[in-house]
Amino acid sequence: MAHNLKRFIEKHLHLLGIVIALLVITAVYITSYIIYQNQAISATDQATQANEKSTEALLAKIKQEKATAAAAAQKKTTQATVASTTPAPTQSVATSCNTSTSHNDPSAIDVLVNKKHCIVPLSFYPSDLVNIDGATLSAKAADSFDQMFMAATAAGQPFGVSSSYRSYTTQVTTYNYWISVSGQAGADTYSARPGYSEHQTGLAVDVKAGSCTLSCFISTTQYNWLQTHAADYGFIQRYPDGKQSITGYETEEWHYRYVGAAVAQDMKMRGISTLEEYWGLSGGDY
Ligand code: DAL
Ligand code: ZN
Repeated sequence: MAHNLKRFIEKHLHLLGIVIALLVITAVYITSYIIYQNQAISATDQATQANEKSTEALLAKIKQEKATAAAAAQKKTTQATVASTTPAPTQSVATSCNTSTSHNDPSAIDVLVNKKHCIVPLSFYPSDLVNIDGATLSAKAADSFDQMFMAATAAGQPFGVSSSYRSYTTQVTTYNYWISVSGQAGADTYSARPGYSEHQTGLAVDVKAGSCTLSCFISTTQYNWLQTHAADYGFIQRYPDGKQSITGYETEEWHYRYVGAAVAQDMKMRGISTLEEYWGLSGGDY
């Protein structure tokens, strides 16, 4: 039996070699295949990850672009709102109507505005307007006006507001109206030309007592109260009686201008009733 087996093996040894060789080749092939597959899977994973990363980057970029576009649109809306509430300049900037090197900043409480000193630029408007007690005023004057208004009311001398901030374009209408009433020479004695009115600074206010406005106001107890107390709140009666040659205007007992308590009280203490005299600057006619 053993002998037969030995003979069989000897006879088919080459076949066994072939089988072993085939087995080795197959093993090598399978191993290579597995390695190749693993590498392929790994490469696919890397490609997928890279792809995901680039997709994420793309989405982030789109998101960023959308945010930028939304911000730009929002800015445009804000600017449009500001533009629509801003009076359009009706005249180009002029400087020849104000040659002063001081008291010429229309956004400062020490600005001088009269027939010799227009507002530069003519299209100026205060950027800090607020509504208070029936008035529209620069924030620089609003708090003091509110305190004066409250104090007058508490003292039984309540006054109202007939006019406060007026834009350049509103002053065009106002001035033209008074020309239609009195002619230009007449209007010039009590109404400022556009660009020459303190009302455009947001620092001036016309007051009234009930329905008693303009020249009626001098006969009221509210007027008396203001004569005594306005300076404490930083306001002066801007156009006093008998000073037309200096201020350029007839007396206006109803027109108050905010200059700050320090200046208003100092003027009162020193008996100086016009800003032209207090600051030593020219006034009078155009
Ligand atoms: N009534 C004053 C002068 C003005 O028009 O501003
Ligand atoms: Zn006025």
